[in-house]
Amino acid sequence: MDLTAPNAAPSAHRASAANTILPLRVEGLAYDANGQRLIDGITFTLDAGPRTVILGPNGAGKSLLLRLCHGLIAPSGGTVTWQGATGNADAATHQAMVFQRPVLLRRSVIANVVYGLKLKGTLRAERAEIAADVLARTGLARFKDTPARLLSGGEQQKLALARTWALRPQVLFLDEPTSNLDPAATHAVESICQHMHDEGTRLIMTTHDLGQAKRLADDVLFIHKGRLLEHSPANAFFETPASGEAAAFLRGDLRW
Ligand SMILES: Nc1ncnc2c1ncn2[C@@H]1O[C@H](COP(=O)(O)OP(=O)(O)O)[C@@H](O)[C@H]1O
Ligand SMILES: [Mg+2]
Repeated sequence: MDLTAPNAAPSAHRASAANTILPLRVEGLAYDANGQRLIDGITFTLDAGPRTVILGPNGAGKSLLLRLCHGLIAPSGGTVTWQGATGNADAATHQAMVFQRPVLLRRSVIANVVYGLKLKGTLRAERAEIAADVLARTGLARFKDTPARLLSGGEQQKLALARTWALRPQVLFLDEPTSNLDPAATHAVESICQHMHDEGTRLIMTTHDLGQAKRLADDVLFIHKGRLLEHSPANAFFETPASGEAAAFLRGDLRW
């Protein structure tokens, strides 16, 4: 499959076993710092398809868990493995991460997108067209030649997503991508995420915005004090949480 095709088929997330790195299997994951166990014995499997939201109070370990899954930090114990046919060998090239604060190059908007394509190895002749396409889809076409640092916070986050979208990752980790944004920019970011999902990118997102979790989640991982307390379909989690901690969290009563 040509992952750079601007109009990937909507059914792409039902990718054949021949070309996917999924499922993601996390087993007995642990992370220690300063003598403290911050991630403690987390085990789960994420298959291709649904949108996963990781929920939990501030300090629960959501960001650490995403960084461990994406391979930005090494676990103190346990394993993160990509179990699809192309598996760990291809994992790094087929996943991406978007952060709370976008990390952009001090270049124009389009140069930020083109640079990502260049790193991926996309043919030079194809880069400009793919970049223009994702800028149009994210509402950034008119800022094409604007220095990225002059964009508003919401526009910068849209650019971070556009740059990622251009790469057509199989898996996208998002760490509180809208926590610094106003409602309109939040809506725009959610809409881009939804389009990426529709095109076949597997979304794994943290948020502490319950409204956002209800809008976007198909399933929920609920983390508290570095432990995974629940992994449930979103409806079940929100209607009948299995743990007292999750019930308290949903009422707004849970503190770290
Ligand atoms: N490198 C580190 N060294 C020490 N403590 C850390 C480190 N990174 C995170 N922590 C701590 O681990 C806990 C979980 O952090 P984090 O994953 O950022 O939480 P969340 O994203 O759920 O708010 C917090 O108490 C945080 O202070
Ligand atoms: Mg965090």
